[in-house]
Amino acid sequence: YMKIVNSKSLVQNNTFKIDVNTKFFVDITSESDLLNLLQETRFKNIKKLILGGGSNILLTKNINGLTIHNQIKGINIKKETDKYIFVSVGAGEVWDDLVVWTTKKKLYGIENLSLIPGYVGAAPIQNIGAYGVEFIDVFEELRGVDLSTNKIKILTKNDCEFGYRDSIFKHRLKNKFIITEITIKLSKIKKLKTSYTSLSKELKKLKKDNITSQTIREIIIDIRNEKLPNPHFIGNAGSFFKNPIITKQTLTKIKKLYPDVPVFEKGKEIKISAAWLIEKTNWKGYRSGECGVYNKHALILINYGKAVGKDIINLSRKIKATVKKKFNINLEEEVTIL
Ligand code: FAD
Ligand code: EPU
Repeated sequence: YMKIVNSKSLVQNNTFKIDVNTKFFVDITSESDLLNLLQETRFKNIKKLILGGGSNILLTKNINGLTIHNQIKGINIKKETDKYIFVSVGAGEVWDDLVVWTTKKKLYGIENLSLIPGYVGAAPIQNIGAYGVEFIDVFEELRGVDLSTNKIKILTKNDCEFGYRDSIFKHRLKNKFIITEITIKLSKIKKLKTSYTSLSKELKKLKKDNITSQTIREIIIDIRNEKLPNPHFIGNAGSFFKNPIITKQTLTKIKKLYPDVPVFEKGKEIKISAAWLIEKTNWKGYRSGECGVYNKHALILINYGKAVGKDIINLSRKIKATVKKKFNINLEEEVTIL
């Protein structure tokens, strides 16, 4: 039976380690639990927070409503062909446990997304990405509850409107759809994505035939541990901002002063490194009271222990203003501010 907890601190439920309270908190372990919960009169017209691992949110105030912590588990093979395997996964599985499951089975598709914190159900929300792979690359379909009707709905790739760190769940379906299960398509045949510079550099040291999804996983774990703070020890939510997309003209201007500015060009789109912009405006390693900018990666804002959401917001505003002033570029938050 679902236990509804009154007035609970969320400090252990967000990797920024911000201490706010939620009026009600519930762990849901099945879709039917969820549907029953939504039928309860007292929860009908109340604000709801759908919570996974809390690794991409910044809590700025108490949640005056119901926090639904998704704990729906299960990894199941749905269909198999000569080349592919379709796997359905409960939204409450830990993302990296799923990656481990796939590499152990010598499957290919999500090994580049190793060690990303959080749960499976949040992967579609911002279309998680790292080291040349995005969630959309393996996505088949997802299942969940549409909160406008309280009915189960299946969404396909087109329905989800995925983009760079973006999807329909950040716009029209924001807080209006609870993902309960995703289905991904993995390859049984070796398919490596090795274009990302730091990854290909490491792979060159190895014999090509010996490289498996497990090898990629291990290298990525090393790279990530080198530069990203472990939320277990330092409160953070990964990249605080997105890498901004800029015009050719803006890039030409910046290149006059900084010929080596790191940019990623894909088709006509030019993405500039937000970490570089923040470093060049002298924020890297900055600390003010209980919050600051990580000294090994300028895109990561950190909580030294007792910061409140407002402290982080204030720091992020200052960073945005200086980047705007120096480069005329607007930084946009990647983290969901609540
Ligand atoms: P939460 O923070 O719990 O939720 C995030 C948002 O999704 C919220 O708006 C929430 O309401 C919504 N949501 C969650 N679950 C559901 C659901 N079942 N149905 C509907 N809505 C839901 N991200 C990357 O893309 N690439 C990286 O390389 C990366 N590296 C990171 C490194 C560190 C150290 C940290 C702390 C974070 C990093 N992130 C990265 C960000 C984060 O891990 C991902 O965005 C992750 O998918 C968030 O999962 P979560 O379960 O913690 O989501
Ligand atoms: N850089 C700096 N200063 C720094 C850090 C980086 O100038 O302090 C420059 C370097 O030139 C470096 C370049 O930025 O080569 C790129 O850095 P990195 O490889 O760390 O990637 P990123 O663009 O900063 C993005 C994602 C990460 C993801 C990595 C790897 C965004 C907003 N962030 O970071 O995702 O892990 O690529 O693919 O797109 C997250 O979303 O939370 C996240 C951590």
